[in-house]
Amino acid sequence: MDKVKVGIIGAGNISEYHVQGYEELPNVEIVAVCDLDNEKAEEYAVKHNIEHVFTDYNEMLKMKELDAVSVTTWNNSHAPISIAAMRAGKDVLCEKPLAMNADEAQTMVDAAKETKRLLMVGFVRRFEKNTDYIREVIEKGELGNVYYAKTGYIRKWGNPGGWFCDKKRSGGGPVIDLGVHVIDLISYLTGKPKAVSVTASTFNHLGIKSYIKGMTKYNAKDYDKNNPYCDVEDSATALIKFDNDMTLNIETSWVLHTKEDNNYLMLYGDKAGVKMEPELEFYKEHNDYFVEERPIVQEEKNKFAAIFQRETAHFIDCIVNKVECRNPGEDGVAIMKILDAIYKSSELGHEVKL
Ligand SMILES: NC(=O)c1ccc[n+]([C@@H]2O[C@H](COP(=O)([O-])OP(=O)(O)OC[C@H]3O[C@@H](n4cnc5c(N)ncnc54)[C@H](O)[C@@H]3O)[C@@H](O)[C@H]2O)c1
Repeated sequence: MDKVKVGIIGAGNISEYHVQGYEELPNVEIVAVCDLDNEKAEEYAVKHNIEHVFTDYNEMLKMKELDAVSVTTWNNSHAPISIAAMRAGKDVLCEKPLAMNADEAQTMVDAAKETKRLLMVGFVRRFEKNTDYIREVIEKGELGNVYYAKTGYIRKWGNPGGWFCDKKRSGGGPVIDLGVHVIDLISYLTGKPKAVSVTASTFNHLGIKSYIKGMTKYNAKDYDKNNPYCDVEDSATALIKFDNDMTLNIETSWVLHTKEDNNYLMLYGDKAGVKMEPELEFYKEHNDYFVEERPIVQEEKNKFAAIFQRETAHFIDCIVNKVECRNPGEDGVAIMKILDAIYKSSELGHEVKL
């Protein structure tokens, strides 16, 4: 194969990281960009030296020379765009969450099977160095049986606004935006056990709070400071049980009356425990003492860019060298089932079995 010819669909914030990743790869050429907003797409094409510009992805997908696409649009278009791309013979790297719900995500996996195309889901945190380290340690049995996990992805003031707040386009709030990352990470680290039940509460009391001063936050491309519309949750908590007897406790928020942002992730086994965030640390026993270990795993200075680089490089490696995909679409469906159950449990007010 000559250079892999890639197209970007959705010229927003996160697509910049996909582009940076592709630009590092000598065997990739970004040939097309598509965004609903023509002016933004044109600007983007100039910035990244991309030849073809579209506002309709169906037109872009007619390009014969196009081999693969990154789908970095609002969540409601992940499924239709990815399916159309695979039907047009393109391989797909689709951002998380894979779709609006598990049924929709399953139609994407079905299309991948039918068309024999690659559908990779953008669970980018699987490409952190700490993830590799902890996964290896768990596979070697050093934690023993991991029976409890606990994670929080808490923002004090971080509602991105715009489409993220519009359920029709996003499917939900921090659960589907942030929770998805850490639920997936724990599932991936512990060998992808199957979720069997979920008890959850989601809360919608605070909204965007656009008027807040003294802090900055990540904003959607269509964020409008004067539009307070928000019909999704602003925080949530859930207890998820898996078929390997592991219980996961998760909390997440976009806006919460709390001291500060707080990201944590812990796994507890019968031989040892590990804290992945805020810093890597192991808790075990040695010589009848409890000991702590801090492995030295250096992440790059710009960790966010580095993990996207590894993700896009892996996507291209899957296409060119047919290596096994680390993030197959099926994993996106499994996580969507958990997210669906979180919303359902909150709505019903009791446990949901999967
Ligand atoms: N992996 C991560 O860490 C991470 C971080 C942020 C966002 N994301 C995901 O990336 C996706 C995009 O998020 P963002 O923050 O870049 O949003 P954004 O608002 O910055 O950009 C989205 C862009 O998609 C365009 N778009 C929407 N529908 C389209 C369509 N049908 N055709 C063409 N263009 C379309 C919009 O015009 C906009 O320019 C979301 O699914 C989000 O969940 C992932």
